[in-house]
Amino acid sequence: MDFFELAGSRYSCRKYSERPVETGKSNRILAAAGIAPTAHNYQPFRIYVLRSGDALNKIREITNMTFRAPLVYVICTVESEGWVNEFTPEFNAAELDAGIVITHMMLEAKEEGLESLCACWFDNAKVKETFGIPDGQFPTALISVGYPAEDAHPAKLHTKRRDMSEIVKEL
Ligand SMILES: Cc1cc2nc3c(=O)[nH]c(=O)nc-3n(C[C@H](O)[C@H](O)[C@H](O)COP(=O)(O)O)c2cc1C
Repeated sequence: MDFFELAGSRYSCRKYSERPVETGKSNRILAAAGIAPTAHNYQPFRIYVLRSGDALNKIREITNMTFRAPLVYVICTVESEGWVNEFTPEFNAAELDAGIVITHMMLEAKEEGLESLCACWFDNAKVKETFGIPDGQFPTALISVGYPAEDAHPAKLHTKRRDMSEIVKEL
């Protein structure tokens, strides 16, 4: 797919079909995460795959932000592995790196004929505890992936974009 066709047709999907995602597709989404650029190539992230009935039930009990998707990735950042900018030591690139990793995953999901949703609104501590995520790893986002339900559609916010003149300025 042409890049704009791919990126332009992606939307946050909040209604999924029950059809499971094929393992090969999930593996390619994970491979896309593995080739994402990260600051200094430190790769300060870990991904947990939730696809068993038990794991999906657990995440659905914690949050409804996975919208009953049949496949959920928990994206964790490892701040201690993140690149730190010596000019501004309070800047740690781990969260930024995770954002790029997530983008790779969502676009590859689209390429595989799947839809996705990135969600950050959930109880991070509860996710950490429920899935036994080790100390030093912070569950920063849930990426839900699946085939869209027949009546799935983009939300109103999808098309609400700032004008380019507001976000881009040539200096
Ligand atoms: C970092 C991040 C966190 C988000 N968290 C949530 C969330 O918790 N719940 C939700 O329904 N959507 C969430 N979204 C989806 C956004 O609302 C959505 O991307 C935005 O409205 C643009 O719509 P679109 O993705 O359909 O283009 C999140 C998106 C991003 C990038």
